[in-house]
Amino acid sequence: MTAMCGIVGYVGDKSALEVVIEGLRRLEYRGYDSAGVALISSNGGSGTELATERRAGKLANLIGAIEERPLPAATTGMGHTRWATHGAPTDRNAHPHTDCTGRVAVIHNGIIENFAALRAELTAAGHPLSSDTDTEVVAHLLEAAYQDSDGDLAEALRRVCRRLEGAFTLVVVHADAPGVVVGARRNSPLVVGRGIGENFLASDVAAFIAHTRQAIELGQDQVVEIRADQISITNFDGTRAAVNEYHVDWDVSAAEKGGYDYFMLKEIAEQPRAVADTLLGRIGADGRLQLDEMRLSPDELREIDKIIVIACGTSFHAALIAKYAIEHWTRIPCEAELASEFRYRDPVLSRRTLVIVISQSGETMDTLMALRHAREQGSLVLAISNTNGSTIPRESDAVLYTHAGPEVAVASTKAFLTQLVAVYLVALYLGQLRGTNYGDELDDVILQLAAMPEKVEKVLETMEPVRELARSLAGERCVLFLGRHVGYPVALEGALKLKELAYMHAEGFAAGELKHGPIALIEQDLPVVVVVPSRQGRDVLHDKIVSNIQEIRARGAKTIVIAEEGDDAVVPYADMLIRIPPTPTLLQPLVATVPLQVFACELATAKGHEVDQPRNLAKSVTVE
Ligand code: F6R
Repeated sequence: MTAMCGIVGYVGDKSALEVVIEGLRRLEYRGYDSAGVALISSNGGSGTELATERRAGKLANLIGAIEERPLPAATTGMGHTRWATHGAPTDRNAHPHTDCTGRVAVIHNGIIENFAALRAELTAAGHPLSSDTDTEVVAHLLEAAYQDSDGDLAEALRRVCRRLEGAFTLVVVHADAPGVVVGARRNSPLVVGRGIGENFLASDVAAFIAHTRQAIELGQDQVVEIRADQISITNFDGTRAAVNEYHVDWDVSAAEKGGYDYFMLKEIAEQPRAVADTLLGRIGADGRLQLDEMRLSPDELREIDKIIVIACGTSFHAALIAKYAIEHWTRIPCEAELASEFRYRDPVLSRRTLVIVISQSGETMDTLMALRHAREQGSLVLAISNTNGSTIPRESDAVLYTHAGPEVAVASTKAFLTQLVAVYLVALYLGQLRGTNYGDELDDVILQLAAMPEKVEKVLETMEPVRELARSLAGERCVLFLGRHVGYPVALEGALKLKELAYMHAEGFAAGELKHGPIALIEQDLPVVVVVPSRQGRDVLHDKIVSNIQEIRARGAKTIVIAEEGDDAVVPYADMLIRIPPTPTLLQPLVATVPLQVFACELATAKGHEVDQPRNLAKSVTVE
């Protein structure tokens, strides 16, 4: 089976192989444990044939194989990068998969849940299945459906899709249909790129942005047929579908490394811009927030009596911070919950519950399932997402987009900062709307929020000592992270970044919890990063953490302290001090997270790891 993969399809007058490989390169972040291509070419006589190549491992392996054994010239083709779930990442399980005649090829992203029954049926009918994948059944089903549809590949795919359960993006070609590529989607992404004399299919616009910025979002349960000069979209039942075409407002340079060694470095550096872009147009000249784009009426929002913020991974850390901000500024009870846990504990939801789902990709299956559950219970769902037109925002009642631009590195950085901006905006907006007690504070915080891009920039300018420190710690086995209040999710985020990039044991703790157990971990020279809260209005919190630093230092820890400029109370206890600009407490994660990103990235690089594509991970997790 295959879960979250990169898919590219092409028909036009260029070399399909070149277009597809280039597209796959841009999508490699989606999965990178095997790759393959299928081309429809002339067989030298009057007929056409299917040519395929596929290889386990990164795209480079596939390219190497094609160099050794070149494929025929073709202007129709498709390609795939895979992130395996069940079938191991071997050559045999790599896509494309073909039918008995070797004339149909299929690539797939998702999981076909009823594949065991379909496989049994096909085996009984005499189809030899040669891989462990669910995808292969589609190729064999298409073999017969194509005959039954009188050689109409789109109709054949519609017939097959009606029999499939689960989540899938499928793209198919047939040797008897040169100049045609057909795609289908259910619960998994597929976009169409409209060019001139050429058209594209892809999991993500990044794959074809070098060729066209005109895109069409394929709807749920739809099939698209592209030819060089024609795009037709139908529903699975064969009826014509409405077409939602849009212009992509970022260009190819945004999807490239821009001179940095890694996308992650570029994306860390882009954070001031990403934060500014996410604020753009949302703060009025009068200092009031304008979030009408969310499509939730003020009346609906005034009715809310409970908020649950749901997400996974780094986005979940944004959800934890949202809880502090929302409860403080709105006085509405708020919970933060992991998407993968939410649905299974039978949460109490009502029409007056606002569920906020946070997802950079907009495709995370755990989060999507949580949102569907919330909507089934009648709750309002607001999505915070970085991906225009992706499934999560589309299925939500309302959406607030972050404007981080494409995030290619697997580890989330700029998307996280913009998620924080989005949750602050929502919390402050609700606070304004409901006229909570903190009117003056809200006005002030909005002003401070507008100043955050500059502060993030300032932090980035002072990161050299952090990089040096990271390099010096490359030999360590473990690093701990401590924080209080919103510094606690920041500590969790620092630990997550280090785990996923440097493959080191790293834990984040609420500093107050230390004495209840984790303090036993402290030993001589253990590096412990401490996020010190701002003194502004939170003296008690600040003083408590200063005591915590003393406690761990007394037990031999090497203390790495992140504290505001001018905070001298920490100086005697810090083996290494990282300064951040003074910021209101709740906004501090926007500046405190940045050194932790730089730290993890540099430490991982020092250990020789490839930071853009950490092992075992993929950018968009479309399995539960
Ligand atoms: C970690 C990371 C992941 C994602 C998580 C959710 O650096 O990137 O933990 O945050 O998989 O992804 P989205 O936000 O796309 O739902």
